[in-house]
Amino acid sequence: MSGPNTSYDPVEVAALAPAAVEEAVDAALAAIAAASSLEELKAVRPAHQGDKSPLALANREIGALPPSAKAEAGKRVGQARGRVAQALTARQGELEAERDERILREETLDVTQRAARRPLGRRHPIELMSERIADLFVGMGWEIAEGPEVEAEWFNFDALNFDADHPARQMQDTFYLEPADAGLVLRTHTSPVQARSLIERGVPLYVAAIGRVFRTDELDATHMPAFHQVEGIAVDEGLTMAHLKGTLDRLATSLFGEGITTRLRPSYFPFTEPSAEMDLRCFVCRGEDPDCRTCKGTGWIEWGGCGMVNRNVLTASGGAPDRYTGFAFGMGIDRALMFRTGVSDMRDMIEGDVRFDAQFGMEI
Ligand code: DAH
Repeated sequence: MSGPNTSYDPVEVAALAPAAVEEAVDAALAAIAAASSLEELKAVRPAHQGDKSPLALANREIGALPPSAKAEAGKRVGQARGRVAQALTARQGELEAERDERILREETLDVTQRAARRPLGRRHPIELMSERIADLFVGMGWEIAEGPEVEAEWFNFDALNFDADHPARQMQDTFYLEPADAGLVLRTHTSPVQARSLIERGVPLYVAAIGRVFRTDELDATHMPAFHQVEGIAVDEGLTMAHLKGTLDRLATSLFGEGITTRLRPSYFPFTEPSAEMDLRCFVCRGEDPDCRTCKGTGWIEWGGCGMVNRNVLTASGGAPDRYTGFAFGMGIDRALMFRTGVSDMRDMIEGDVRFDAQFGMEI
């Protein structure tokens, strides 16, 4: 601030000279106009409106003026500061409006837009195949039955004519449930549904059962401790192995297509007499490659067991073996899926990766 100003001439106080004040205003207006964002405008304020801005300094000089000069200088500087303040406010308003408009534009949300679809889940191919099999039997007039996965040892073995010391009981491949004397197992096959159906429904009987079975196999490319079977039992007057063969051929054709060749090969099961294994002609080499890895050069692939219902089973389940005969079969569904679709590692079927399931398409 200048010293006491006794012989006043406002023009001589440099900061108050009209030209200096005008210059300060022009500089301020130019800086304000040039500010292209709120941040820039914020930086402009201290330089042109703050305590140390030229106009604030000029304002301070007014106090030292003689009263006669104060009014004129005060008015001029006051107007100058007013113009700067106004310009700042106006520019602030413009920039805020621009910012708001930009935010509105950038953050626009179209609430009517369709959301991205969630990826669809898939049905498991074993499920699809099981349904297809069930449909086939329903189409032939059979009933569909179910049995428990935790099964009485009696249904799993005794009712099916397995001796008390039959190797399948003791062998490592049955899961027994605790306590040991409860007589409960995880069913090792779907055949107990044969006995249950005979008891519950009586004869004549045409029943198919599809379900999960359990054996103490290590999990590898061709074995699973839990897998699926389709069981069938038909008991009626006059049924013969020809009916059995016809039914199985129909099942094979529906799963593997027309032209599939099957054969029955003598075998043994305690609950059928005579018993047979059903084989399918090798899909890969059709019996023409002695080095074929799929059929190990035999030309045939084992699919399941079958036979004429043993009269002991009919008797145990209340049937009338002198009047009725029956046939039965049990086929692996997981194996069928492998043959049908070329899945070479069973573990893929249980890993739960939806991309595996998706390959088989969707049937509802
Ligand atoms: N239950 C047998 C198994 O799992 C398969 C089987 C064989 C089922 C002969 C039958 C049958 O119904 O008659 O190995």
